[in-house]
Amino acid sequence: MFSAKSLFQEILDDDESFRLFCSIAAGGESQGGWENGRISALVPRSERAMAPKIARHGADEDKHARIFDALLKKRGLTPVPVPPETDYTMLLERAGIGLAHEKLERDEPLTVRDVIVYLAHSRVTEQRASEQMEMLRRYFGDHPEVGRAVRMISGDEDNHLAYAHEELLRFAAAGHGRLIQRTLRECALAEIRVYRDVSLAVTALMGRVLGWSRARSAALAAGVHAVYAYERLAGWHRMVSLRMPERRNALGGPATPAPEYA
Ligand SMILES: [Fe+2]
Ligand SMILES: [Fe+2]
Repeated sequence: MFSAKSLFQEILDDDESFRLFCSIAAGGESQGGWENGRISALVPRSERAMAPKIARHGADEDKHARIFDALLKKRGLTPVPVPPETDYTMLLERAGIGLAHEKLERDEPLTVRDVIVYLAHSRVTEQRASEQMEMLRRYFGDHPEVGRAVRMISGDEDNHLAYAHEELLRFAAAGHGRLIQRTLRECALAEIRVYRDVSLAVTALMGRVLGWSRARSAALAAGVHAVYAYERLAGWHRMVSLRMPERRNALGGPATPAPEYA
């Protein structure tokens, strides 16, 4: 009846659904950019060495937001406001995952514990981002309109994930293992719920825009629930393991520029 590929093809082919998809994606990316920018500014003195990498992480996310905006512009479209029920980043924050915006808005330095919470949040959410982009790259990596953007973002998300693994392992070696494991678990269990809720909300919106039949919408919603059931049972474990990445210091050095999307 449908595959992930045909689903995304359909979303890509229709201006209204493409507009919604890019707007939601750009919104999440720019929030991520802001969060990382603030965290890099507030890093405690003992972790100063991380600041440029966190800033680079933020610069990458801001670049992704600009890429999604540019994809819209290329088609002569403007962004639409992000419906709150599809706002993954905000919903995670509301669930108490990661660092509260209230804390990031203050000008007080973070603690080492805050930095660990931030990294655990990144470990989990970048896994999601990396898997999603990997799927898009598999299907649309050669697509004339979105292929380049998809490949670039996908490579960056892989780097973010590698960096989160590496930094968390460093903190684990320094004696923070229990805090890390506890935080990762809490974060992963909340993330899979938020991901389910956002997926249901996006599916419902896309169904309306693209005029899906009730049967099709119901089948897609059932698919989302099935993914959640699997993730709750076993899948979440993949989000809490730590392994030294092949690519070390993935965020050392400046961001790869994307002048064509500036
Ligand atoms: Fe991103
Ligand atoms: Fe990322």
